[in-house]
Amino acid sequence: MSSVLKTDPMREVIESDRAHVWHHIAQHKSLETVDPRVYVEGKGMRLWDATGKEYLDAVSGGVWTVNVGYGRESIANAVRDQLIKMNYFSGAAGSVPGALFAARLVEKMPGLSRVYYSNSGSEANEKVFKMVRQMAHRRHGGRKYKILYRERDYHGTTIATLSAGGQPQRNAQYGPLTPGFVEVPHCLEYRSQWGAIENYGERAADAIEEVILREGADSIGALCLEPVTAGGGVITPPKGYWERVQDICRRHQILLHIDEVVCGVGRTGKWFGYQHYGVKPDFVTMAKGVASGYAAISCTVTTEAVFEQFKDDPSDPLSYFRDISTFGGCAGGPAAALENMRIIEDEGLLANTERMGQRLLANLRELQSRHAVIGEVRGIGLFCGAELVADRHSREPLEEKKVQAVLADCIAHGVIIGATTRSMQGLNNTLCLSPALIATEQDIDHITAALDAALGRVFG
Ligand SMILES: Cc1ncc(COP(=O)(O)O)c(C=O)c1O
Repeated sequence: MSSVLKTDPMREVIESDRAHVWHHIAQHKSLETVDPRVYVEGKGMRLWDATGKEYLDAVSGGVWTVNVGYGRESIANAVRDQLIKMNYFSGAAGSVPGALFAARLVEKMPGLSRVYYSNSGSEANEKVFKMVRQMAHRRHGGRKYKILYRERDYHGTTIATLSAGGQPQRNAQYGPLTPGFVEVPHCLEYRSQWGAIENYGERAADAIEEVILREGADSIGALCLEPVTAGGGVITPPKGYWERVQDICRRHQILLHIDEVVCGVGRTGKWFGYQHYGVKPDFVTMAKGVASGYAAISCTVTTEAVFEQFKDDPSDPLSYFRDISTFGGCAGGPAAALENMRIIEDEGLLANTERMGQRLLANLRELQSRHAVIGEVRGIGLFCGAELVADRHSREPLEEKKVQAVLADCIAHGVIIGATTRSMQGLNNTLCLSPALIATEQDIDHITAALDAALGRVFG
């Protein structure tokens, strides 16, 4: 492959990219002197860049997305067939794959029954915010419009979803943000706000109730949480947390919105992250893994009780959900999602994720026993993080520059890993490891061996 990739057309690609593409979340100054990385081919867990260099991808396309791996012809064929037959009509009408995927999806989500399609995680979350606001107007005289979000969680890149974002560094310079979003404390026990206490999980949940009581429950419509916080530090919920959160929402009649944009469709070893904790959400949003990046699709899934509120008075011209998403009507998305789901089922990828996740966690814990820089290892399924510290005793976070040096070393040695970046000043210190759900034991061991070597080289 390398000989093909080194030909002039690739030089043209690199120079065109350098001259005209504005990359996401990138400081471009360095790309004036270093070639931008362009990936040209992927197969399974492996990728090749324009120079022909091979990589093992331990972050599923950088942002927890390519769950079933690269190069899946059956998904490409499903999308192709659908596009030739019927590529698009506005979501005001139905599509064959849209109807079939919705039915398959809600089979896996007892208690939920309605699927609203759009294109991105941010958009799926904004749909919930709009539904909650509209219900506040229609049912509660304009009250219950506030939306609670949690410190360190992320829900998207638009101004409204940034307003629900608990990562101040990420939000910086984009204000003024949208009013009506209120923060609740994080639930990362390693950085406990209450010292070393028993029952940290219940305490962290009670902290949500304190905010509710301060703001007034009658002003709050919904609580929006990630089941496991992703870009905010791979925060697995502490014991007892979710049970208490559910109870608090019920008692104060606050709808529970779970953002499964990262965890959804298998990442944690169950279809959805919340299903580990026995939670009954009112809204679930998902995007990345729904079609593994083979097509753009996101879903906002809700209950029949919520849906009913948007159709009970046909005489009122404003009584329905007056929202539209042009590309939410693309039929390629649900076609890809159907095939993606079939692959996960037929290849037993949920069970594989659980098994390989345990191996990844065990390997990381073994690294922790030898590298003092690893302060804590967290994770569930193939969704793991290692928090790096300058000092194990004081838990002083490692500076971001050094965390990035570990990443750079891994990439230089052909393994792509991730880390929290520019999200929370002074706390961008967690490495992220989230390989595709098809990972084998050899892949997992390869990833942790690369990390072991990188930590050795960077910290001596
Ligand atoms: C938990 C979570 N929610 C929402 C989003 C936003 O998704 P998108 O980038 O598709 O808008 C992300 C993106 O990383 C995310 O991690």
